[in-house]
Amino acid sequence: MTRKILVTGGAGYIGAHVCKALAGAGYTPVTIDDLAHGHRDAVRWGPLIAADLADRDALAAAFATHSPSAVIHLAGFIEVGESTRDPLRFFRNNVANAIGLLEAMRTAVVGAIVFSSTAAVYGAPQSDLIDERHPTAPVSPYGETKLMVERILAWSGVAHGLGWRALRYFNAAGADPAGEIGEDHSPETHLVPRACLAALGKGPPLDIFGADYPTRDGTAIRDYVHVSDLAAAHVSALDRLMAGSASGPLNLGTGRGHTVAEVIGAVEKAAGRPVPKRVSPRRQGDAPALVANPAEARRELGWTPMIPALDAIVETAWRWHLRRHGGER
Ligand code: UFG
Repeated sequence: MTRKILVTGGAGYIGAHVCKALAGAGYTPVTIDDLAHGHRDAVRWGPLIAADLADRDALAAAFATHSPSAVIHLAGFIEVGESTRDPLRFFRNNVANAIGLLEAMRTAVVGAIVFSSTAAVYGAPQSDLIDERHPTAPVSPYGETKLMVERILAWSGVAHGLGWRALRYFNAAGADPAGEIGEDHSPETHLVPRACLAALGKGPPLDIFGADYPTRDGTAIRDYVHVSDLAAAHVSALDRLMAGSASGPLNLGTGRGHTVAEVIGAVEKAAGRPVPKRVSPRRQGDAPALVANPAEARRELGWTPMIPALDAIVETAWRWHLRRHGGER
């Protein structure tokens, strides 16, 4: 019998890729997702429990029915701008639900969790490359909720021996190279999908949020990491935790930064057509540059991205969007 892993948010963009990677590694992912943002058709590698994480009874039943060996917790609100307008909703959903999940794990005697965290825990960068010792000072309620959950995990480790990893994603991008799943947020706020949609003529021209940053072409720099590489890191983190590894946060990025203009160029190359675009004011809260130092993840997980090149990442995203929204060519 394969071991089961409870995956909260398994119907979402990163969650679905994590479930595929788990299945590829011989686990059975059991998804719990309320489908408010996730997609039923993205749950293909194990059962779906369509329930809100706030539903304690559903959560207890999930543990009782499936007896998972560990948990991967990805469910949560992700929209940074929205979090600044409605922080309480974010704290309730992201923090209170995580506490409920940890309590359910304790009751079920499940002692390992991999948590979906973010580079947003760092706030304004104080160095070119950000490692895990960089100060944490979130500038949005979203980042604050993720940091709070990390602290709760740390104290649960101290008190109860919980094994945990918080994976701090930089910019997740791309789609399953086999084309089975991809990014489909609503509303879509992320650069790569928005550029693909603009190239497909869906929606307005792409806004370039700021062309006056102190960078090589004036647009902001981010560290884009392929979603299947992120997914693989979850499986490694889980394997090692269940074998008794150390706990703690780990950055997931490539260590290389690309400007918004370079990303648009990569989309135009993949699409073979221009991305309609216009320069707009900076987006509030955006840092000029955010690039990971991923050395610790390499050391602790043996993790290196298999698809590190921006062109290759964007190519998988473009193929997904073309099929999903534009028809095959
Ligand atoms: N951008 C545009 N136009 C758009 C969308 C984005 O120019 O239409 C720019 C942004 O200003 C930024 C870059 O493209 O410079 C990347 O923006 P995304 O919205 O794709 O991603 P962010 O870097 O803002 O956010 C990501 C995750 C967050 C996480 C954050 C951590 O989506 O969840 O990284 O730094 F909090």
